[in-house]
Amino acid sequence: MPRHYLKVSDLTREETLALIDAAISHKGERSAALAGKVMGMIFSKPSTRTRASFTVAAYELGGHAMFLSESEMQLGRGETIEDTARILSGYLSGVVIRTFSQRDLEQFAAVATVPVINGLTDERHPCQALSDLMTISEHHEDLAAVKVAYFGDGNNVAVSLINICAMVGAHVVACTPPELAPPDWAVAEARKLAEASGATVEVITDPLEAAQGADFLYTDVWFSMGQQKVPEKKTRLEPYHIDTRLLSLAKPDCKVMHCLPAHRGEEIAADVMDGPQSIVFQQAENRLHAQKELLKLLMGDAKA
Ligand code: CP
Ligand code: NVA
Repeated sequence: MPRHYLKVSDLTREETLALIDAAISHKGERSAALAGKVMGMIFSKPSTRTRASFTVAAYELGGHAMFLSESEMQLGRGETIEDTARILSGYLSGVVIRTFSQRDLEQFAAVATVPVINGLTDERHPCQALSDLMTISEHHEDLAAVKVAYFGDGNNVAVSLINICAMVGAHVVACTPPELAPPDWAVAEARKLAEASGATVEVITDPLEAAQGADFLYTDVWFSMGQQKVPEKKTRLEPYHIDTRLLSLAKPDCKVMHCLPAHRGEEIAADVMDGPQSIVFQQAENRLHAQKELLKLLMGDAKA
């Protein structure tokens, strides 16, 4: 059975921490771990970071990445997910999938005989979470002493962030309007991971309380890919945008994170996004470093 990465908990806490350490210490290194291997990337949604960083990651490991847009595949004309997974498993050494439904991804992975990686679904974004944890680790050695506060829509990025923080023992706060909180199943997952790690998972609605004493403020877009821009949702989210006033309530050396793409003036003020406490571009670069280690772990030749 191949090893997949469809959600944060598909790697253990130990594997996740080892991956982050390796990503930090191997930055910029090349190897032949994927020599002679081709990885497929099936995307049904747009992407800048995920597509480019996985393509470069495969190249720097001596392999090749093949981009497959769903709309140009027979999948887009009704070929089944199962048939596609079976056929591509015969050619490829692994597949990164960005799609809408987590169920479709799981269906593909259930049939695939090569590793499958979640490149974002409506429910989760675990590769983003790996890069987020790597970036947090670069600023704080003691993860158990860190408070990470997420503001805005309780979306895919929030789900994977609270999971990975809970897994490694951090204090994580999801601060959202009540009706936009991360789903109950995601909070339950995070609390279960927290039981083992000693993490604290809070879901609250008051942004001032969430920002107090935080080491990291994190936000994401208010309308994720595939969602309709409903004006009422924007109005509900306005009190949760990150600006200098919110940042002033956090620790003086607090860092600001965003998975990107960002909408300056919506979920994050331009002067915060482009200010000295922002680490969003480091976070984006770390996608490459963290994913190289993920590819090595799931698809790599151990001897290389
Ligand atoms: N953060 C992220 O996944 O960016 P892309 O949508 O550009 O891949
Ligand atoms: N929540 C956003 C993340 C983009 C990387 C989306 O799904 O569009």
